[in-house]
Amino acid sequence: MVTYTLKIIEVKRETADTVTVCFKQPALKKIKYLAGQYLTLIVRINGRRYIRPYSLSSAPNVDQNLEVTVKRVIGGVVSNHINDKIAVGDLIEVMPPMGDFILPDDKNADHVILWGAGSGITPLLSIAKYLLYGNKVSQLTLVYGNRNSENVIFGDTISKLKKEFSNFSTWHFHTRLSISHINENIIEGRINPHKVLQVMKADGNIGAETLHFICGPVGLKQSVKDALAQNNIGHDKIFSEDFEKVIDPKEFENVVSQFVEVQSPTENSKIEVAKGKSILEAGLDADLDLSYSCQTGSCLICKAKVLSGKVKMINNHVVELNDNECLLCCSYPLTDDVKVLTEN
Ligand SMILES: Cc1cc2nc3c(=O)[nH]c(=O)nc-3n(C[C@H](O)[C@H](O)[C@H](O)COP(=O)(O)OP(=O)(O)OC[C@H]3O[C@@H](n4cnc5c(N)ncnc54)[C@H](O)[C@@H]3O)c2cc1C
Ligand code: FES
Repeated sequence: MVTYTLKIIEVKRETADTVTVCFKQPALKKIKYLAGQYLTLIVRINGRRYIRPYSLSSAPNVDQNLEVTVKRVIGGVVSNHINDKIAVGDLIEVMPPMGDFILPDDKNADHVILWGAGSGITPLLSIAKYLLYGNKVSQLTLVYGNRNSENVIFGDTISKLKKEFSNFSTWHFHTRLSISHINENIIEGRINPHKVLQVMKADGNIGAETLHFICGPVGLKQSVKDALAQNNIGHDKIFSEDFEKVIDPKEFENVVSQFVEVQSPTENSKIEVAKGKSILEAGLDADLDLSYSCQTGSCLICKAKVLSGKVKMINNHVVELNDNECLLCCSYPLTDDVKVLTEN
């Protein structure tokens, strides 16, 4: 795959545990992307290569630079490295923008509701700026959940957009609302999609054509989807993005540790895949040079052919694969004769 090397021109601290990294667009061939897509960063830490996708928080046709916003994950290798170590002037290799968490077409939308929590705001901010500055939406609503005011990423940008655009409204939910921040625009508790939809319905502000974009933890995604289903909102109006793979442990019941042969055009290796690890994770632990990005089963970069044996795909995304194909990031060996051939 073609990659680009981008120069960091600014690092902005957003909150105590979140930074925005601004990359200079290449002078000759600008990197094109759609609002809601992500950039995959390839970073070297202590001699090892790590690949992580980060949604672009910048918006096409609005922001000059390419920006990603990274929140620390406890014990996370790359998110902590980015928060603590990277600096202006550093060069970072990236893959071309990818992802289908995007507006369905470039027609003007009537009403768009953005549902997000924590770092899930990043692609939503890109979509918001793109729609508002491009005059592409009649009404835009952001429903944003955080622990407290200190954790709100892009608080100033959101306030500025609200002042600038009368068709933009926000609902802020804080699970730990502090007395000093009690404000009629903040609701205590987790995002309550029923309440939001009820008020919008009463105001005549929600229709069958309203589009919903959801990005945040699984719990948020599920509660919003359940509320939308109860309001008879069609699946074609709902778009969601996963930042991490969450697997029900019951899915591993018939999976045991196995050795797997991983063949690539350049090397052949036998690796142990411990129960609970995907073939991709085990391969990376064994220092294999495997191609990947999302690790959630959506980008298809880790696609491989199953040459022998049986694998179980544990995966929430519906992707079209041939019978003998699998996604290594979602694949777990079921038999002791699994042999896979990677595409790259
Ligand atoms: C399409 C896509 C877009 C993304 N966009 C963003 C973004 O805009 N901003 C952002 O901060 N992150 C984003 N992420 C998540 C990001 O790619 C990394 O997964 C995250 O930064 C953790 O990487 P790490 O190396 O620090 O943690 P790792 O070392 O990989 O993991 C350490 C531990 O944290 C857990 N973990 C991994 N990811 C998460 C997570 N997201 N939340 C909670 N626990 C986790 C792992 O299960 C593991 O136990 C996105 C992910 C995807 C798939
Ligand atoms: S890494 Fe994206 S589908 Fe496997």
